[in-house]
Amino acid sequence: MRSNPSPRCPGLLSSVRGPRARAAVHLLVAALAALGLLLVAGCRGEGAAGPGKKRAGTPGDPWILGMSQCNLGEPWRVQMNQDIKAAAAKHPNLKIVEKDAQNDALRQRAQVEELVNQGIDLLIISPKEATPLTRPVEEVYKRGIPVIVLDRAVDGDQFTMFIGADNKKIGHEAGKWIAKALGGQGKIVELKGLMTSTPAQDRHSGFLEGIDLAANPGIKIVFEADMAWLEPNARREMESALAAQPEIDLVYAHNDPGAHGAYLAAKDAGRVMKLVGIDALPHEGVDYVKQGILDATFAYPTGGAEAIESALKILKGEKVEKKIVLGTRLFTKENVAGGGVVIP
Ligand code: FRU
Repeated sequence: MRSNPSPRCPGLLSSVRGPRARAAVHLLVAALAALGLLLVAGCRGEGAAGPGKKRAGTPGDPWILGMSQCNLGEPWRVQMNQDIKAAAAKHPNLKIVEKDAQNDALRQRAQVEELVNQGIDLLIISPKEATPLTRPVEEVYKRGIPVIVLDRAVDGDQFTMFIGADNKKIGHEAGKWIAKALGGQGKIVELKGLMTSTPAQDRHSGFLEGIDLAANPGIKIVFEADMAWLEPNARREMESALAAQPEIDLVYAHNDPGAHGAYLAAKDAGRVMKLVGIDALPHEGVDYVKQGILDATFAYPTGGAEAIESALKILKGEKVEKKIVLGTRLFTKENVAGGGVVIP
């Protein structure tokens, strides 16, 4: 006797004999189908909140932007998130979901996945470090979710666009300014940002180009350390520098918290020197220049507003540039009252 061929899976059932064996195959087919559905749902990011369908991008059905911030423990990054929220608040068809990785690349990786599983329409990420975040960004992008990389870069080009200032140029300008401020003569401490992040690499190499030690043989870098962008680390490294170096004429720190940490260590040791930083937040670096704590700081814009502007374009299907480079300004005691000067 031939078995009844199943309309869904004729080949399989026709070769199976006996009612129990057929029931087992039915069960298996049902289980596989259920698994398939789960996998498809997972792949579309239909997690807890995600409906899987395309959102309309209207106030009733707003686009959801995931914002993966590497560390909200730093004023500059708090400002970035505020800039993003302020820009997004002007568009009722946008909603922001934020994650703070608390300066942990592995946590940031996991949070990117969580955002995708929540069904975001676009990802904005300011990655802690380039290499560990390159794959997660690439995976999101390859799933068809647009990705805007903000301020710190990842490796390669598997993302929709990058927005940030030119750190090499800022480093170069800082180097030129420092060579001039020292009159070609002096001992320098360099407190670097996290050297596995691209801004620190560029602020260092740009600085070396700008200061041009070959053309300024009277200038020496007598101490350098990685303070990972953090003021307490900078203060500790500066204590070591002060203990080891009886003469320090200037500190070049890759950010204003770093320069401020160096200032506190020098003050404790009763030593005075020039201090240069980067970021120039109004209530941080610019204020330090006004108070005479820093001699110079270079603006490092957060790109928050630009990210929202570009996100809207991408979601509306408009073309965007692969890279948007933001400008900088120099603040010194001579120009700070007038809002600094633009560096062309
Ligand atoms: C904050 C920060 C800024 C710096 C930027 C570089 O985390 O360290 O001070 O300019 O990141 O990515």
